[in-house]
Amino acid sequence: MAILPIVTVPDPLLKTVSTPADVVDDDLRALMDDMLDTMYAAPGIGLAAIQVGRPIRVLVMDLSDEEAPPNPKYYVNPVITWASEDRAVYNEGCLSVPEQYADIERPAACKISYLDYHGAEQQIHATGLLATCIQHEIDHLNGVVFIDYLSSLKRGIAVRKVKKLVKEED
Ligand code: NI
Repeated sequence: MAILPIVTVPDPLLKTVSTPADVVDDDLRALMDDMLDTMYAAPGIGLAAIQVGRPIRVLVMDLSDEEAPPNPKYYVNPVITWASEDRAVYNEGCLSVPEQYADIERPAACKISYLDYHGAEQQIHATGLLATCIQHEIDHLNGVVFIDYLSSLKRGIAVRKVKKLVKEED
């Protein structure tokens, strides 16, 4: 278990299209464990492997309340098999774009097929925050960050603020 450095914008790594995992083995589970530690420490509610510099189609998430026991979820090779025409707007943030938030509109519900922590095939029908979060994370696997949906002006402002923040932390 380890806390890994998180890649922030405008690092070109975040534009990488990640490749599917061949197999869910102990090495991949070790990566997922480290990603979960990294996400909890940040703290955040979702993390894609590319955000710790690994271009593999793997996500971890935990949407449980702060007071509730941890409820980690692991998604390997997630695929959106259906998305609703209904749309929903959430004020999104991202550990790769620290302290920046924006209203983003996405399908309100979706179906996802994926492999779980043990490599078993699973499907979920996601609504609400789960639907938003998993679409945000799958975007990362395709090299897309939520600020890519903003105007170039707003995106530029967000990137400059992150660069300044990261510089101050060094
Ligand atoms: Ni993100």
